Order: sequence, then C-alpha cells, then structure tokens
Amino acid sequence: MEMTWQPGNRLFFILLVASFLYIMDTEAKTGPAHDKVVVCYISTWAVYRPGHGAYSIDNFDPSLCSHVVYAFAGLDPIQSAIKSLDPWQDLKAEYGKGGYERLTGLKRNYPHLKVSLAIGGWNEGSKNYSNMVSDPVTRGKFVQHVTSFIRKYNFDGLDLDWEYPTQRGGAPKDRDNFVLLAKELREQFNSHGLLLTSAIGAAKNVIDQAYDVKQISKYLDFLHIMCYDYHGSWDRKVGYNAPLTAPNGDPLSVQFTIDYLLKLGASAEKIVMGVPFYGRTFKTALDGNLDDETDGTAFQGPFTREDGFLGYNEICRILSNKTSGWTTMWDPETSQVLARSEKDIFSGLVQVVTFDNSRTIANKVKFAMERNLAGLMVWSIDTDDFLGECDPESDIYEDYKYLKSANIHSPPRMNNNYPLLRTINEAITLSLEEIELQHNDKETNLLPNEEDNEIPHGSISDRKGDNSSSNHLFKNASYIYTILLGILIFSSA
Ligand SMILES: *[C@@H]1O[C@H](CO)[C@@H](O)[C@H](O)[C@H]1NC(C)=O
Ligand SMILES: *[C@@H]1O[C@H](CO)[C@@H](O)[C@H](O)[C@H]1NC(C)=O
Ligand SMILES: *[C@@H]1O[C@H](CO)[C@@H](O)[C@H](O)[C@H]1NC(C)=O
Ligand SMILES: *[C@@H]1O[C@H](CO)[C@@H](O)[C@H](O)[C@H]1NC(C)=O
Repeated sequence: MEMTWQPGNRLFFILLVASFLYIMDTEAKTGPAHDKVVVCYISTWAVYRPGHGAYSIDNFDPSLCSHVVYAFAGLDPIQSAIKSLDPWQDLKAEYGKGGYERLTGLKRNYPHLKVSLAIGGWNEGSKNYSNMVSDPVTRGKFVQHVTSFIRKYNFDGLDLDWEYPTQRGGAPKDRDNFVLLAKELREQFNSHGLLLTSAIGAAKNVIDQAYDVKQISKYLDFLHIMCYDYHGSWDRKVGYNAPLTAPNGDPLSVQFTIDYLLKLGASAEKIVMGVPFYGRTFKTALDGNLDDETDGTAFQGPFTREDGFLGYNEICRILSNKTSGWTTMWDPETSQVLARSEKDIFSGLVQVVTFDNSRTIANKVKFAMERNLAGLMVWSIDTDDFLGECDPESDIYEDYKYLKSANIHSPPRMNNNYPLLRTINEAITLSLEEIELQHNDKETNLLPNEEDNEIPHGSISDRKGDNSSSNHLFKNASYIYTILLGILIFSSA
C-alpha cells in the first residue's frame, strides 16, 4: 500500500514537530542551570539614576534569575486597591513606558521566568496596610482588586512588602490580620495558579512581633527573607551590613535569622535567603575599623545618592580605581568586607563601607544550601556591576576548601557583567559539590590535604552532568526522532 501525502500536509506536520521541539528546547535552556530559585528584585526607580548607574528593564538578563520582582506598587487606602506609584514608567496609558508589560513580556522568550509585582516597600509605611487588613470588607475588596490587577498585566504573582505588620505605626492585631490576608489571597490565587510571596524582616524583634511564622508559611509560596541592614550609620559606630555569622550568639546575623525562622516552623523549602547587592557607609574620625565610633553621619554614592548606602557597582568602581587610596579588609568571622578611604587631610575623617562581595556571596550560598533552603533572593540587581565595568574578583571560592584541594574550578565566565548574580548561580552548583565532598570526607574521616587526598578529580561540568545528561539524551533523541520522521515522510511521498 502506498501512503499518499499532500505536500501541504507534509510541511504542516514537519513544522508542527519542529515547533514543538523548539519550544521544548527553549524551555529547557532559558534559565539558570540548577533547580534552586534565584529571586531578583528590580528597584524600578533605578531608571532615574545618572550615567552608568541608570538601570532599565532593557538591562535585565532573564537567564540569570528564576523569578523577578517588580518593586514597588502601592496601596490606595480609599479604594482598598493596589495602584501604580509611577504610572508613566509602569503603564502604557498616555504614552507611558509600560514597564509592567515590558517585564512580563519577557516570558515569551524566557518561558522559565516567573514575574511578580511587589506591593509596599519602606516608603509606603505600615499604617495604611494595618488599616486595610483590619476590616474584612476592605481586606476582601483588596484581595479582589489585586487579583484582577496582576492578571491584567500578565504577572505570575504578588509579593507582599509590608514593612512591617505591627511596626512603624501598625497595630498588635496586624500579626493575625496578616495571616488572614495571606489566607484569603491564597484562596483567590489558587484558582488562577498565581504565586504568593512576601518579603520578611530579619530582625528578631520584628519576627517575634510581626509574623505568625508557622501560619504564614502555610499560605505563602516563598518567604523572601531580608537578611541585611543589620548595622548601619544609625548605630553610631562602624558595623557590618549583613554578617553571615556573628560572635557570642549575637542575633544580628544572617545565620541567626535563618535558624530562628526554621525553629519557629518555617519550612526550609519555602525560605529564600536575601543577599544585599549594596553596602552601608560610615564616616569616622578614628581609623575606620569595626566598632569605631561615628557621629551618625555617612556618605552617598554618585548613582544611588542616598546617605548611608552604596551600591556594589559604586563600591567596585572605587576599589577598581588604583589611585583612589582605598583599602579592603576581609573578615573571616562574618564573611564581610570592610573598605575604607585614607584620612581626609581637611576634615580628618575616614570613609568606611561594609558590604558583600563575590566571596561573601559564595559563602552565603553555601550556608543556604547546607540548610536546604529554596534558594537566594537579591536586593537588588540594579546595583550589581550590571555593565561589567569593574575588575573581576579572583578569590571567590577561597573558602571552598574541598573543591580547592580536589582542584575543581568554576568554568570561565563568558561575560564580566552581573558578577554577583553570576556568582549566586555558579555557587549554587559548586556549593552542593563542596558539601557533598565535605560529607564524604566526614564519613571516611579524611581531612582535606593539598598533598594527598582521596577526593576524586574532575571538572564540575563533567560531574554535574549526571542529572542534565538525561536531559541532553532526551533532547538528542527528539532531534533524531525528527530527522527519522522527516526521512520517513519524504521517502513515503
Ligand atoms: C496613606 O494613605 C493616605 C491617604 O491616601 C496618604 O495620604 C498617605 O500618604 C499614605 N501613607 C503613606 C506612608 O504612603
Ligand atoms: C580615581 O580616584 C581619584 C582619587 O580619588 C580620582 O581623582 C579619579 O577621578 C578617580 N578615577 C576614576 C576613573 O573614577
Ligand atoms: C540529581 O537529581 C536528584 C533527584 O532530582 C537529586 O537528588 C540529586 O542530588 C541530583 N544530583 C546532582 C548531581 O545534581
Ligand atoms: C546532545 O546534546 C548536547 C546538548 O544539547 C550536546 O552537547 C551533545 O553533543 C549532543 N550529543 C549528541 C550525540 O548529539
């Protein structure tokens, strides 16, 4: 029997199979290579920063994040509704720049990407949120409105950034009402497959008062923990912005925050640990060491122009400038960097900034992987060296002792831009490897030793191939299948 194929049918069939494979292929390739979440906040007002500090959605690289959060929308307390805080940037009406839809539109080419809208932020305060959640009627109106709003602009979810329930003019009953808000949003969101997340304060007293941790982790998909601002110029002495650990059980550390939330019943697979892409600044008449007294004054950078705050892109520019006279000190106890200027001969003051660099972040990623957390969050990607204008750091995996002694290195980077964000993605894979080697070593009781070790050699890309190889095989099999099908169709015509 001869099969008869119309040329039209044949072409149609091939196109169908080809497009199916194309979709499958892009789906597999557009995001990070690991299975953890990398949540990238964009502070969308960064578009107004001067010169090379200006960051627009065109600068965003969706391949480096699993989730992106557009910060911030606000609350209209009269209507109990979510609203744009910058309609010209966010919306398309009246020749606006349509930021919401430009960000959600990236999903067409990056199908892995989940895009959320954040409501709140520091400047929105707490009181209007406290009032809105206190009454079931206004709370219900808000839930209805926010659901249709985020669907209208094709967002995948909502991120609650109320800073914070019960604080800054809030009321004690916010704690329970926040749970009710999360519960009611969850019920609405489930029917539309939307994500519900929340930024969570890191200070112990805020956690104690603001959050019923067990309840909210029931209703939220992810808790974005804001593990930064532990110290700043408000302390009137030099301190670390985001120390991984702190001596003597000091609760002002990332480790304390994460372990405390776990102890209170948050599930590890919902905790997303925040890392700051910025530092805190100080001015002191002393030498610029940790704990040096200050009069509370700080300084600002040329891009972010906010006293007490420097973006990593501003810090790395200073440090890449060989004539700036700045020096850095690494603190192994806290995984923090302190950088300071020479003493100004006129004012007698030293400028100091404490911050996270790539090495800090690699160590924090390892901590997050040891705790089996969902992944990492970034505040915010617009202050990474997103243009790649600074000197690259060379000591990123200095503290990955097992990989070092096994002579395993990270593959060379194709791009110099986004060094911190690239470190997060790379370190997720590398730290899992490091942890495994460490674990094997404990079992066999071998200490890492440069001269003689039992740790298998090999490149990371070889070794992590285990899981992804099945992926490749599947893809290759599909290509072969297409070719065979093509041959079959043509030969049978
Ligand atoms: C709270 O809402 C009122 C009324 O709309 C507004 O005037 C006020 O600015 C809001 N508070 C904050 C901190 O935004
Ligand atoms: C480097 O630092 C020096 C001294 O602070 C300054 O005069 C110069 O403008 C800086 N260069 C760049 C490229 O920023
Ligand atoms: C491979 O995947 C399994 C299950 O998804 C996981 O348990 C394992 O850790 C992965 N191995 C590597 C090397 O990624
Ligand atoms: C299978 O696909 C992977 C990546 O898509 C590629 O590196 C590899 O060479 C392919 N193998 C074969 C036999 O085609």
